[in-house]
Amino acid sequence: MSEIPYKIYLSENEIPSAWYNVRADMKTKPAPLLNPGTGEPLKAEDLYPIFCEELSKQEMNNDDQWIDIPGEVLDFYKMYRPSPLVRAYCLEKALGTPAHIYYKFEGNNTSGSHKLNSAIAQAYYAKKQGLKGVTTETGAGQWGTALSMATAYFGLDCQVYMVKVSYEQKPFRREVMRTYGATVTPSPSMNTNVGRKINEQFPGTDGSLGCAISEAVEAATTQEGYRYVLGSVLNQVLLHQSVIGLETKAALDKVGVKADMIIGCAGGGSNLGGLISPFVGEMLRGENQYEIIAVEPASCPSLTRGSFVYDFCDTGRVCPLAKMYTLGSNFMPAPNHAGGLRYHGMSTILSQLYADGFMKATSVKQTDVFAAAEQFARVEGILPAPESSHAIKVAIDEALKCKETGEAKNIVFGLTGTGYFDLVAYQKYNDGVMDDYIPTDDDIAASLSQCPKV
Ligand SMILES: Cc1ncc(COP(=O)(O)O)c(C=O)c1O
Repeated sequence: MSEIPYKIYLSENEIPSAWYNVRADMKTKPAPLLNPGTGEPLKAEDLYPIFCEELSKQEMNNDDQWIDIPGEVLDFYKMYRPSPLVRAYCLEKALGTPAHIYYKFEGNNTSGSHKLNSAIAQAYYAKKQGLKGVTTETGAGQWGTALSMATAYFGLDCQVYMVKVSYEQKPFRREVMRTYGATVTPSPSMNTNVGRKINEQFPGTDGSLGCAISEAVEAATTQEGYRYVLGSVLNQVLLHQSVIGLETKAALDKVGVKADMIIGCAGGGSNLGGLISPFVGEMLRGENQYEIIAVEPASCPSLTRGSFVYDFCDTGRVCPLAKMYTLGSNFMPAPNHAGGLRYHGMSTILSQLYADGFMKATSVKQTDVFAAAEQFARVEGILPAPESSHAIKVAIDEALKCKETGEAKNIVFGLTGTGYFDLVAYQKYNDGVMDDYIPTDDDIAASLSQCPKV
């Protein structure tokens, strides 16, 4: 038996006391957000009507390498962190691979995912600013659940616009949010101007994260004492999620292991960005090398088939422009089970790192993802979220490549959450009725042609 335990735990005192801001070490900074009206770069103050002030400052902060985690956020982290880094001995054995596989498990809290790491920080800053409440979008529902837990803790109102297809597929997740006091509205709704417009333009649409964002932003900016919060994509969210990578690195250091390969699923990029930040920091400073792989669904392939251009972050075109790998803000992904990975764009930080060659990307089909999820569940015991299973699929593929070459690579992947609310998807897979929708080049070209010319 190897000396490395199944679970590599850190103590409570080893939870990081500051978030790591990878932008400080990037030679080419992520491109600034632009005002969609004037095309001018935005300043932190320009964002104050939409986001909390402290979060707007974090959004624009390209300079400070470390940002202290406020004591109240740290206290909340202590209720469910540090999260375990698990050595997947059983999976390794089942695959017969010489590779050593590790996963950082972020699903051991009620929201069932990593999203709570940023939700609690964003709710804290909203409370500190004296706001009444926050509005947000949610795709698969994990972010909305996490935010409702965080707002309940700080006594804030929480209004969630939930992508219609998920609202219908996941009624129980909706009830978790309501139990924590949130109001949940299927998006696109008829409550907002932008929702009515999208419903008119795309009758019977299942919705998308882009639509739900537009609605939540409108709801925040038209109610006194409310601001909008977002669960992914933004620099501030990747900053908060750096807690995942910092703990992963500390745990690996504790057992004297250097990762060779780091794999994560990529929707808007928050878990992957958080997981890789400290490792990429070492690459940026010339201290170490890692192979980093972003995994996206073949149904919504922003990095692998999108363009690196300025685009709207939302379908309703009310948000600022971000330079990112995008499929076009009008792109409507198939109503499949990639859940929170169904977003047309990618974090500007990850987009820049990808463009600069610090990261690779690959896309995988949904039926292959569920096959990997079941294989993992049967040997490692955890029922993974479909999003997380994208990373599992590629970790398994890479471990099988090691079997051919005989290399004992250290493969680390992010297991972002659990799949208890995704059983309709598992049912479809088990019944053999799940299909693999992949957009055509024409579909993508049509939505990209509508990107603003900047
Ligand atoms: C469990 C889980 N993993 C991953 C993601 C993808 O988001 P991100 O790319 O921001 O980590 C989501 C988003 O909803 C999620 O719920």
